[in-house]
Amino acid sequence: MEEKEISQAVIGRLPRYFRYLGELKDQGIERVSSQELSDIMKVTASQIRQDLNNFGGFGQQGYGYNVEYLFQEIGKILGLDQNHNLIIIGAGNLGQALVNYGNFERRGFLFKGVFDSNPRLHGKRIRDKTVQPMENIKGFVQANDIDIAVLTIPKTEAEKVAEELVGYGIKGIWNFAHVDLNVPEEVQVENVHLSDSLMKLAYNISRSRKEGDGA
Ligand code: NAI
Repeated sequence: MEEKEISQAVIGRLPRYFRYLGELKDQGIERVSSQELSDIMKVTASQIRQDLNNFGGFGQQGYGYNVEYLFQEIGKILGLDQNHNLIIIGAGNLGQALVNYGNFERRGFLFKGVFDSNPRLHGKRIRDKTVQPMENIKGFVQANDIDIAVLTIPKTEAEKVAEELVGYGIKGIWNFAHVDLNVPEEVQVENVHLSDSLMKLAYNISRSRKEGDGA
């Protein structure tokens, strides 16, 4: 297939397709039309066709989409056909919650180690992991082929720690600290801000209230 630039908006929608197709697959459903997907996902059928056409379509006129095939292909596009090894930096509330949530592993995201600068946490067990001191990171990253670091540390510390991790060869940072990281172009950063999602919710509540008032 010819390589072409896919918009971030389309990429942003792929995990949702992947999730729904995974559910259909688990239910033993073998094929689905864009209209059926549209009904389940509350996205227009034409949007679905447009999105999937970016990758060569996958569908056949009169047949729809083969669920298993589409699931596998979107997984490949998302890089989920291979495992990713992660470490978590910051074993506080959020870091511990992430380690304790086992479902990321189903998608091939394997938490390999947890690190924290607080000596009182060293040796603490979280699920099947032991919190380690920061001094161990360099050797650990190299020995365990770690490609993603998860930052759940205060924003004042994030820049410094990110720089250190990049020096050890980390390729991606899942950043929960509320700061925009300055990293080399080849290092991918995905910021996660739950409060952004809450603010969007607040906006939609207030908009629907105004519409209800006839404003
Ligand atoms: P916490 O205080 O419970 O945990 C932070 C941990 O980071 C502590 O264990 C601390 O010892 C460790 N730490 C501090 N400096 C470090 C360093 N230089 N190297 C290694 N470890 C270090 O905080 P919590 O509630 O877990 O939040 C963590 C971060 O995530 C905060 O920056 C918070 O603002 C952010 N956060 C972001 C959310 C989001 O949606 N993006 C949601 C909740 C929290």
